[in-house]
Amino acid sequence: MSIPVILDGDPGHDDAIAWVLAFAAKGLDVRGVTTVGGNSSLANTTYNARRILTLLGATDIPLAQGATRPLVVEPMIAPSVHGESGLDGPALPEPEMDVQPGGAVELMARLLRETAEPIWLVPTGALTNVAILLLAHPELKPKIAGISLMGGGIQSGNWTPAAEFNILVDPQAAQIVFESGLPLRMAGLDVTEKACFLPQDFDRVRAIGGQLAEIVADWLEFFFEFHREIGYEGAPVHDPVAIVALTNPEILQTRDLYVQIETAGQYACGATIGDWYGSAGQPPNTQVAMGIDRQAYVDLIVEAVAEHTRRLAS
Ligand code: BDR
Ligand code: CA
Repeated sequence: MSIPVILDGDPGHDDAIAWVLAFAAKGLDVRGVTTVGGNSSLANTTYNARRILTLLGATDIPLAQGATRPLVVEPMIAPSVHGESGLDGPALPEPEMDVQPGGAVELMARLLRETAEPIWLVPTGALTNVAILLLAHPELKPKIAGISLMGGGIQSGNWTPAAEFNILVDPQAAQIVFESGLPLRMAGLDVTEKACFLPQDFDRVRAIGGQLAEIVADWLEFFFEFHREIGYEGAPVHDPVAIVALTNPEILQTRDLYVQIETAGQYACGATIGDWYGSAGQPPNTQVAMGIDRQAYVDLIVEAVAEHTRRLAS
C-alpha cells in the first residue's frame, strides 16, 4: 500500500531533489503539488515547480500556487543560497503544464475531500499554505494523516542563531501547525545538517547518465559550492529528509518531543523550542529526527535518479 502525499515547497535545489525522491518512491502516491515563496519569489518557485514536474514527466499531477505572503511577517527570500531564480545552475525544460485555478489551499482541500484514505502533507518551505488550510478547513483535519516537514532545529538555527529559514519565513504559520494536534514529523537541522552530499556522491549521480542525472548532479554541485564557501565540508541536502521520514524511517534516529514555536522574542523569533527534559509538562507533539544513516540516504537519492532515468527511457 502506498502512502498518499501532497508536496508543498519553495523549489529550491533541495526541494527539487525531494520531489525527485518522492516521484520515484514506490511507496508514495503523489496526489498534488503546491508552492510557497521562500527560497525565491512565489512567481519563481511556481515556475520552478512547473519545470521540475515537466522534467520528471509528471505533468498530469495537479499543481497549484500558494499564498502570496506569510501570515504576519514581511516576505523573505534567499537568493544567496539558491540564486536569483531560486534554482540557478543547469538549464531546465520549459513548463509543459499550467497551474490549477483556485490556488494551493483550494487544491489541498479538494484532494483531501476526495480521498478515501488520509493524506500526508510534506511541506519543505514555509508553512503558510498548510496553516491557512488548517484555519480555513478544520473539518478536513481527519483527512490529514500527518505532516512530515523540513524545518526548524532543536539545537540551532541557520538563518539566525536560533531560527531555521523555513520557520523564520512564517513563524505564525509554524505555530499553527505545531499546535494543530496532528501527527508531526520534523526533519530539522539536527538531522539535515548530517544529510550531507560530498563530491563523490554527486559523481555517482552523474555517472548514471542522461539529462535528469546531469541536472540533479549539477543541482547538488551548485548546493555544494555554496556551502563550501561558507565553511561546510559537504552540502546538507535538507528537504528530501522529510520524504525519507515517510518512506524509510528506519534510516533515521528520532526522539518524540514537545515543540513550541517562538513567534516574538528579541533574538529567537522563529526558533523551534524542543522540551528535551520534559520541563513544560506537556506530552510530545512531534517526532523529531536527530540522526541519519548518511550512506543509506545518498543511496536512496542515487537510486531515485536511476529509477527516473529508466522510466523516462522506457
Ligand atoms: C531550508 O531552507 C531552504 O533554503 C531549503 O530549501 C530548506 O527547505 C533549509 O533551512
Ligand atoms: Ca525548501
